[in-house]
Amino acid sequence: MATSKTSVLGHAILLFSALTGAQNTDVPTFYPRSPPAYPAPIGSGFGLPGWSEAYSKAQAIVAQMTIAEKVNLTSGVGWQGEQCVGNTGSVPRLGIRGLCLQDSPLGIRFGQYSSAFPAGVTIASTWDTNLAYRRGFAMGTEHRGKGVDIQLGPVSGPLGRFPEGGRNWEGGGSDPYLSGVGLASAVQGIQDAGVIACAKHYIANEQEHFRQRGESVIPVDEAISSNVDDRAMHEVFAWPFADAVRAGVGSIMCSYNQINNSYGCQNSELLNGILKNELGFPGFVMSDWQAQHAGVATALAGLGKELDCPDRIHQM
Ligand SMILES: *[C@@H]1O[C@H](CO)[C@@H](O)[C@H](O)[C@H]1NC(C)=O
Ligand SMILES: *[C@@H]1O[C@H](CO)[C@@H](O)[C@H](O)[C@H]1NC(C)=O
Repeated sequence: MATSKTSVLGHAILLFSALTGAQNTDVPTFYPRSPPAYPAPIGSGFGLPGWSEAYSKAQAIVAQMTIAEKVNLTSGVGWQGEQCVGNTGSVPRLGIRGLCLQDSPLGIRFGQYSSAFPAGVTIASTWDTNLAYRRGFAMGTEHRGKGVDIQLGPVSGPLGRFPEGGRNWEGGGSDPYLSGVGLASAVQGIQDAGVIACAKHYIANEQEHFRQRGESVIPVDEAISSNVDDRAMHEVFAWPFADAVRAGVGSIMCSYNQINNSYGCQNSELLNGILKNELGFPGFVMSDWQAQHAGVATALAGLGKELDCPDRIHQM
């Protein structure tokens, strides 16, 4: 009796597999996963000018905050607002106002009388770091003039792994060295104008198709995964970000895609491991809009600030 039941079940499974193609030999056997990198390192200014002083001030004020106030400070909302594309909450009790974030790597996205600056790849083609700096400074000045605190740029991801990548032109081209020099010059220019730069999209954000959950055509409702080995990660994709960190970039935006099947905004190896422990990034990691897919797990993996837009959450 038991045998016959088993064999009926076995046949049912085989039939199901045949019908659904579950035994398809195209299923990849290479399924990389990201190694865990915990805990998130305690932030430090690493003795860098400006940073250590800022850390001391921040630690003193954060020590006075309630949980609700900390959540306010590390959360942002909004989409296509007038002055800002998103805002963080404020802490009125301690006199801390919310921050105004605005797109883009090429100048102000939402707003009137703003300039369209040359694309990153155009600037990189000049091999002129001074010009790259001056473009950054001009963009930063315009953002500052509009009351923006964080300019969501410059870009070095995508690098151009796919010729059809929709945003390849926004960054400094496919050469990581050139892209890194361009990224660093832009960061310095933007920040010298008094605005925090945000180097993005960290990382391996190489294609627009299926970059977000909900865009996928396959039944699994997850964003695409960029699977990258350790050497290519360090020598190609992370390289420009290392230059941005050395240039003192204040924030880095994690990307929509997964890397090695772990979301960019909760991949501990990339945030805690490579970005903070290896590169010594002292600033904060913020999510792209709706790129955060867990709560506490993202913070433990190294995310510092999440950004969401409530009106679109309801559509998902
Ligand atoms: C991704 O997976 C590859 C292959 O297993 C591994 O070499 C690499 O270190 C992983 N990188 C990250 C960031 O998870
Ligand atoms: C959170 O931020 C909002 C918007 O800036 C503000 O109105 C509110 O008072 C803040 N809440 C706390 C607990 O500080």
